[in-house]
Amino acid sequence: MAKVKSIYCCNNCGAESPKWIGRCPVCGEWNTYVEQVVAAKPTHTRDGLQPPTGAKSKPLRIDEIASASEPRVDMGDAELNRVLGGGLVRGSLVLIGGEPGIGKSTLILQTVLSLNDCKTLYVSGEESARQLKLRAARIGDDNPDCYIVCETSLENIMTHVQNVKPDLLVVDSIQTIATETLESSAGSVAQVRECAAVLLRFAKESGTPVLLVGHINKEGSIAGPKVLEHIVDTVLQFEGDRHYMYRILRSIKNRFGSTAELGIYEMRQNGLRQVSNPSELLLSHDHDGLSGVAIAVAIEGIRPFLIETQALVSSAAYGTPQRSATGFDLRRMNMLLAVLEKRVGFKLGQKDVFLNIAGGIRVNDPAMDLAVISAVLSSNMDMSIEQGTCMTGEVGLSGEIRSVTRIEQRITEAEKLGFSRILIPSHNVSGMNLSKLSIEVIEVHKVEEAFRLLFG
Ligand code: TYD
Ligand code: MG
Repeated sequence: MAKVKSIYCCNNCGAESPKWIGRCPVCGEWNTYVEQVVAAKPTHTRDGLQPPTGAKSKPLRIDEIASASEPRVDMGDAELNRVLGGGLVRGSLVLIGGEPGIGKSTLILQTVLSLNDCKTLYVSGEESARQLKLRAARIGDDNPDCYIVCETSLENIMTHVQNVKPDLLVVDSIQTIATETLESSAGSVAQVRECAAVLLRFAKESGTPVLLVGHINKEGSIAGPKVLEHIVDTVLQFEGDRHYMYRILRSIKNRFGSTAELGIYEMRQNGLRQVSNPSELLLSHDHDGLSGVAIAVAIEGIRPFLIETQALVSSAAYGTPQRSATGFDLRRMNMLLAVLEKRVGFKLGQKDVFLNIAGGIRVNDPAMDLAVISAVLSSNMDMSIEQGTCMTGEVGLSGEIRSVTRIEQRITEAEKLGFSRILIPSHNVSGMNLSKLSIEVIEVHKVEEAFRLLFG
């Protein structure tokens, strides 16, 4: 195949060069040159305007455009369907990103094996067909509609696609495939971008949905899915701590649905299991009498769940006190500790504080604040919080408990899980009918008040 002309462009200042250079002579930055394809035909005339093309497109008034709902493919997996916004849209390009080894290939293989009447072509650039078969055997599923090919050349992949004519194309992973038209190696920015552009064109022209797998490393590598985010329609991120069993599928960008969605899975010996009631996993039931544990009612996506917050406060063994938080923003924890120091009068300045959110899950809901504060207080005083108590509320800088969103949903979830009392912000109480509830709802205005309620 004829080589497409390519140039090297500085990522920092945009300077161009026919060859790769280590240090940009214009801006002086190191290692910023990336390969780019030069368009074959000049699309601009000399005065910089597009030549007239015989007006194929025509501007339409927005009320004239027919609003057809997007036809969607049911993925047979309630969590995945929800994160995608109700199924996979035909002709869409979906990127599933995540650290290596988190379970992306397992999730996709498991999903395509369970699809009915959907011919799938699974292109793997990382594993051999035998390895994939072994994995399928481990998951315990088989599907005659699923075709596997191990290929890393984009041109060959497109030939296979024309022969198989799949209803769904999976490419695992985008960093391993390369087009022959570029000299740079697979996984470089130019290759990733070019291959994704070809697959995007294929998806839009044929109406076939395409799932791409992309690795990200801890630094969010530039040759990773970051360069793809604006090209694809949907970006899903598969995350979780490899040492824990839980995996979270988060939607980061979705042109066909909400990005507030979250899917929770559990990694088992025989594949991933959907977790439809996360609270069951995130609560351990034997913390009676233990200090430093508080149960928070948080909302991620549309689902409320109860989650255990643990804190350990101890005198600093070394000169500088240590502060560490797992699953919670460290700066926010420091802010909450400062509020405690100022409002409740606890001297935490010379103490080590460790905070841990159970299950290795990262929660961003500000309504966690009250539980974090309560867990710290409980550990500091070595007094346990009465069992059956949960709480929700954001803490402001002056120690006030601020209202949270969707309070009814939170209370109902706590009630459903058998909790006997819930602490909520007093601003949330107005206009609520509390008489029907079997759970005791206690309103709190301030951190001091919560402290008195919990520890007498
Ligand atoms: P994998 O899907 O290969 O990760 P990725 O494609 O994101 O790199 O999954 C990797 C891990 O999952 C691997 O360490 C083994 C584990 N695993 C299970 O625990 N149970 C299973 O059934 C399977 C298939 C994998
Ligand atoms: Mg993989």
